[in-house]
Amino acid sequence: MKISQIFKNNESWIQSKLEMDSKYFDKLSTGQNPEILYVGCSDSRVTAEELMGVQPGDVFVHRNIANMVIGLDLNSMSVIDYAVGNLKVNHIVICGHYGCGGIKAAMEPQDLGILNPWLRNIRDVYRIHHDELEQIKDDSKKYERLVELNVQEQCINVIKTAVVQKAIKSRDLKVHGWVFDMKTGKLVDLKVNFKEILSNIMEIYRLD
Ligand code: CO
Repeated sequence: MKISQIFKNNESWIQSKLEMDSKYFDKLSTGQNPEILYVGCSDSRVTAEELMGVQPGDVFVHRNIANMVIGLDLNSMSVIDYAVGNLKVNHIVICGHYGCGGIKAAMEPQDLGILNPWLRNIRDVYRIHHDELEQIKDDSKKYERLVELNVQEQCINVIKTAVVQKAIKSRDLKVHGWVFDMKTGKLVDLKVNFKEILSNIMEIYRLD
């Protein structure tokens, strides 16, 4: 992909939008009111809008390596705070994907420098679910399961924040755990049972 091609693509995109609606960009520039906050992986193959078939304005998006929600990460914490507290989204999606390089790296003993503290959070997910994961003998199945469990733990991390706890109580904000399967293109709802998971741990994390 040549950089100059991107600007050509942009011109034809503008034309196609204007042919559909001559006021398209006037409307787009008036403001945003997304219903959904999407937290996904930075992986170039896991697009946010394209795989969901949504339009500009529909989804507030945050992407990082392995779709992590880390309490000390000012970036993801600010995104969640703004999306929930100001934009008043009604859904938060954590979307992982099979074949995630970040998850794979965290399963291997290797020094990756600045990435170490980031990936350590995935190693922590492994530790929390050690008993279940160690029972899976097939390595690729274990890898897939860690992708899913990481999504589940990041959903829990979302619920640890005060802004989300308030919104769940006051306006029924929903948190969803999904996985994207690149081999088929399918988006899978993990149907994380938050009621059950949270009933065991909410006493520890509730903030009021
Ligand atoms: Co990834």
